[in-house]
Amino acid sequence: MMYKRASKGASMDLKISTLITEKQIQDRVEELGKALTDKFKGKDLVAICILKGSFMFYSDLIRSIDTDLSCEFLGVSSYHGKTKSSGEVKTTLDLSAPVEDKHVLLIEDIVDTGLTMNYLQKNLQQRKPKSITTCSLLFKPAALKTEVKLDHIGFEIGDQFVVGYGLDYQNFYRNLPYIGQVENIN
Ligand code: IMP
Repeated sequence: MMYKRASKGASMDLKISTLITEKQIQDRVEELGKALTDKFKGKDLVAICILKGSFMFYSDLIRSIDTDLSCEFLGVSSYHGKTKSSGEVKTTLDLSAPVEDKHVLLIEDIVDTGLTMNYLQKNLQQRKPKSITTCSLLFKPAALKTEVKLDHIGFEIGDQFVVGYGLDYQNFYRNLPYIGQVENIN
């Protein structure tokens, strides 16, 4: 479908086709939630939302994890509004509390080149948590440029640009309830 926006913020209207439906996302989130519940039941868990892209996945996923957990938010940016990673990762918002001696669950929207996840793992490691577990809704194996430890993955996708369910193009399209594949940019 052609998704035409009412306002003029992004530079173009995107042609988007559904890649992963709302129902497929919900079902997978349930499965991930069960696996993470089994892993962390009774442990001191901090679930970290990587902003901005994972806010929607994060809010659904933590509701399907049936154990006590505390919530933290970490802002990073690497795209600066383009469709290819700049390769330079910056922290835009830091955690509000130490994670020393706690089990950390890093929740990401997508691993593309892997540079962001690699940066996050190194950054978090320095804060001496008891363990670091990573969970990404999407993974583009063909785009990977660096080593990353991925413990839980929602879906593997091809090397294509996607939007929706938190993922953006120039900070728009995050509110689509499904994952859409963009047909007219690369
Ligand atoms: P990486 O550092 O190249 O792995 O990129 C990670 C970040 O880039 C993600 O957290 C997203 O914010 C963004 N990103 C990567 N691929 C896409 C995409 O297809 N659509 C929207 N954002 C993306």
